[in-house]
Amino acid sequence: MKFNYILILFSSLIIYSCDKSEETFKPGQLWLDNNGVHINAHGGGFLFSNDTYYWFGEHKTEGEAGNKANVGVHCYSSKDLYNWKDEGIALSVSENTSSLIVKGCIIERPKVIYNTKNKQFVMWFHHELKGKGYNAAMTGVAVSDKITGPYSYIKSVNPNKGIWPMNYPDSLKILGSNLGKFKKWSKEWNKEMEKGAILKRDFERGQMARDMALFVDDDGTAYHIHSSEENTTLHIAELTDDYLDFTDKYVRALPNKSNEAPAIFKRGDNYFMLSSGLSGWKPNAARSAIANHPLGPWKELGNPCRGTKEAINKTFYSQSTYILPVQGKQDSYIFMADRWTPENAIDGSYIWLPIEFENNKPIIKWIDEWSIK
Ligand code: DGJ
Repeated sequence: MKFNYILILFSSLIIYSCDKSEETFKPGQLWLDNNGVHINAHGGGFLFSNDTYYWFGEHKTEGEAGNKANVGVHCYSSKDLYNWKDEGIALSVSENTSSLIVKGCIIERPKVIYNTKNKQFVMWFHHELKGKGYNAAMTGVAVSDKITGPYSYIKSVNPNKGIWPMNYPDSLKILGSNLGKFKKWSKEWNKEMEKGAILKRDFERGQMARDMALFVDDDGTAYHIHSSEENTTLHIAELTDDYLDFTDKYVRALPNKSNEAPAIFKRGDNYFMLSSGLSGWKPNAARSAIANHPLGPWKELGNPCRGTKEAINKTFYSQSTYILPVQGKQDSYIFMADRWTPENAIDGSYIWLPIEFENNKPIIKWIDEWSIK
């Protein structure tokens, strides 16, 4: 009798804890999905569709090898942003060794947008070829008629082949540089690089595209933002009206400022960009910038983080991936970032914090636990 009573109490406790829905964000802590598994969607991108938020991110596996794409892009859905349902793998890597998205390649920072012209969901992602480290520096695209996938891979490119950026001075549009003569990152190499030598080097092949983001403006024009020129300069490029290609319009943004992890959002008439510096998987200080058009010019606003020196120099031990405007809430934006754990990739956690504004500058402060007001 006593044993039965204990058993009932124990099972009720288990049922209660599984059913208990989340009502707060707890940055950096284990975040369980509807199956009780830590959410596996790193370098994430978000899309709101049909009263539901969708979260797309890198599915990581265990160990250091788990930083490679061994599975694909994972998708989750949520009505309230606190509780997430596993929707499975939206884009799968291929077992076919002749496919560019073969298992073991690198797929990072996937972002999905909806194209009204073709009524299609379009996913772009940073793509590195298997066994080539980070040298290919490509951007890949895949499409699906259904938001959760399966997405069909179309191609990967080094964008803007044979096209000069709109804001590159005519006087510098001369091919050829001394770059090849110097050791990479030497004083002489850097001097050449600062004059746009990498842009020229890649002019005929197409430009490098590593850390990336997408931004769709109010008029439906989509922009692809990526770390280019060996990560020294961001490129912001307009996409065609089907979102599957690049038009010939692109700019160099914040040249030679070495930004990674870009994320753009719009507030009123202003466009804001949050980004990071370059330090591999290790965190560094976040940056912010403002513009009155996605194509710039961009003006730096400095580190948006507030708190202890250590915390703000490391962006609360995280790196930006997306800024989410909360639906139906005036002036409510969430800074979303990754706390990477490269030694056991699957353990990476998520840092979501509210963005405040002071004198039209984004400000981010640490909060242990919070909810949307
Ligand atoms: C930092 C980038 O932001 C990540 O997406 C990833 O590419 C790592 N570097 C790899 O070191």
